Amino acid sequence: MAAMWSPIIALLLLLLPLVPSSSSAITLPLHGNVYPVGHYYVTLQIGKPLKHYFLDIHTGSNLTWLECQHPHLGCQHCTQGHKHSYYSPKLSNLKVGCQHMYCVALRKDLPGINPQCPIKEPHQCHYKIRYLDGTTEGVLSLDKISVGGKENNIALGCGYNQHPRKPSPVHGILALGMGTVGFVPQLKLQKMISKNIIGHCLGKDGGGYLFFGDKQFGSEGITWAPMRRYELFYSPGQAKLHLDGQPEPIYKHGVNAVFDSGSTYTYIPARIYNPFVHTVRHMIGSSHREVHDHDLPHCWKFKSIDEVKRLFKPLSLQFDNKIAMHIPAMNYLIHTRSNNWCLAILNGTHVGEDRRILIGDATMRDMLVIYDNQDGRLGWVHQQECTRPHPASRL
Ligand SMILES: *[C@@H]1O[C@H](CO)[C@@H](O)[C@H](O)[C@H]1NC(C)=O
Ligand SMILES: *[C@@H]1O[C@H](CO)[C@@H](O)[C@H](O)[C@H]1NC(C)=O
Repeated sequence: MAAMWSPIIALLLLLLPLVPSSSSAITLPLHGNVYPVGHYYVTLQIGKPLKHYFLDIHTGSNLTWLECQHPHLGCQHCTQGHKHSYYSPKLSNLKVGCQHMYCVALRKDLPGINPQCPIKEPHQCHYKIRYLDGTTEGVLSLDKISVGGKENNIALGCGYNQHPRKPSPVHGILALGMGTVGFVPQLKLQKMISKNIIGHCLGKDGGGYLFFGDKQFGSEGITWAPMRRYELFYSPGQAKLHLDGQPEPIYKHGVNAVFDSGSTYTYIPARIYNPFVHTVRHMIGSSHREVHDHDLPHCWKFKSIDEVKRLFKPLSLQFDNKIAMHIPAMNYLIHTRSNNWCLAILNGTHVGEDRRILIGDATMRDMLVIYDNQDGRLGWVHQQECTRPHPASRL
């Protein structure tokens, strides 16, 4: 009996290593950090010939775009000082008509865009996107991309006009939002991956990894919440902010919370922020006076990290059905170059974000965050560190 089985087992063992590569996710290493860089980004090869570009990962955006040298319009207000030259597509790449599938989808995805095709420029797909800190304008381009060792054509933005212009280590944005023109839906449409699942682990000290595609999750301690949409963002619903050990939330009403890896810090509306800052001051006591720091608004000095950990109690965001996201001190503080400890939670109202809690990179550090568009759920779990999983593993 044993002799009969062995060739079969041997054959199975031979086949086994092949299985993961056909169904596994694509995993990319991340560069950057919350502070002082302010971005987590991947390197992708784009264009013909392929060139390397740094793209900020944005789960709050639908269109991947690069700062771009437009053949006619040039690059107006582009950030200077990039080591690599700008993305410079040919005119033929930019002939994505207004009726093209991706342009139709993009026009649907971008709020405030005129639904009619412009009579003046029907042979190209113009867009303008507003972010928290500015706008970007461009036209859609179809170009080659190399990802996970495979090449394909994708639609991305040739962003020839940025406002305001500011120094940045990245060339553009990798859009991981819910729209059809998003990066992952395009890869799925082209059968480069089989499932629209996105995950990231942002390393506390920088780095980490991003994955997309088919990934199975076991009982790895992941907290799952149903995925709700709130104004185009991934949201686990309404949340109340709690300080550990306090029966009452800091603000009594729930506010929609959204995940946005494109935001460096976490933002909460002033009606929560004001009592929050008050609570923090009370928590650390009057023996520590606030100090001025060039980089962030609410800062203090401490003798050691142990003192910081002792004084700053964990926070949590409480969603419906007892679903919670725990936020240890190290997920809401930043140690600055002036050797201060500052709040990494900022005043949303101050930047025009008055209606929602924006969960940014600072809070998602050393956490695996999963956007499962396949099963309509969001997951998160704290990690010891965000080291990239072994390439041969199923991640
Ligand atoms: C992203 O796409 C979704 C789905 O089409 C859409 O509802 C949303 O408006 C888009 N988000 C942004 C920020 O443009
Ligand atoms: C938050 O911003 C609003 C609007 O700018 C301001 O009125 C409020 O005082 C700010 N709160 C804190 C704690 O800075």
